[in-house]
Amino acid sequence: MKQSRLKSGVLALALLGALGSARAGEGSGNEAASVQTTIVNVCEACHGKYGNSTDPSVPSLAGQGSAYLQKQLAAFQAQLRVGVMSGIAMSLNETEIRDAARYFSAQIPQRDPLQVSDSISSRRGAAIYDEGIVATRVPPCASCHALDGAGLASEFPRLAGQHSRYIADQLRAFRSDSRLGTNAMMHKVSAKLSDGDITAVAVYIEGLR
Ligand code: HEC
Ligand code: HEC
Repeated sequence: MKQSRLKSGVLALALLGALGSARAGEGSGNEAASVQTTIVNVCEACHGKYGNSTDPSVPSLAGQGSAYLQKQLAAFQAQLRVGVMSGIAMSLNETEIRDAARYFSAQIPQRDPLQVSDSISSRRGAAIYDEGIVATRVPPCASCHALDGAGLASEFPRLAGQHSRYIADQLRAFRSDSRLGTNAMMHKVSAKLSDGDITAVAVYIEGLR
């Protein structure tokens, strides 16, 4: 875990260099278009081809709402979220953020045919997702993220098919306030979730299409 953090830190630095040299060639319209391609290539080095991530700690961006993606990049810039993305987000200007968000939002999320979601944990997760937890007043995730996990533009992100490890990491980050986010909704939702609830609901979400 530590080692993979370190590796992505080193990679991020190398890629920041690539962003800088991509911009050095900026000028005519054509060059500007190739700058965008270079930036997308940098993102895809971690987020996967067309934003379909194969690394469980890196979120897929394909099909995610464009406004949500822009807001998250702004949140990394404002340090409401911290991590590998912080330096990368700070190196982007407004146009690059808007263009990258539009590009990834327009890509089609890929289904992993090997992913099965019918485990005991996933069934418990399904109950939390669809109905919430009455005893501890956890609202149903579906009420904001939709039953199929498609999300609801522009505020509520798509969750369907996202890596369970990433989902669980984010829920713990909301719970401990280390991801402040752009509003307080998820802090309230996650405050009453146990580690077991988080694992279960994350496994269920990964199987959603
Ligand atoms: C070195 C690897 C790396 C590179 C390069 C990278 N990202 Fe990320 N990105 C991550 C990781 C890891 C996360 C999850 C951060 C966390 O845990 O909060 C992330 C999160 C994000 C998020 C938040 C997604 C969500 O669902 O909330 C957005 C948006 C994003 N990245 C956009 C980009 C864009 C645009 C680029 C290219 C300019 C890019 N990233 C390049 C590793 C990377
Ligand atoms: C009251 C509405 C609401 C409910 C209910 C809700 N969410 Fe959210 N969720 C949000 C909002 C708004 C965001 C975006 C937060 C931000 O902008 O930082 C979000 C973000 C998330 C994210 C981060 C996604 C990413 O790509 O980084 C995860 C994971 C998540 N919610 C999971 C859940 C789960 C699991 C449940 C049920 C236990 C749930 N949510 C219930 C409103 C809600």
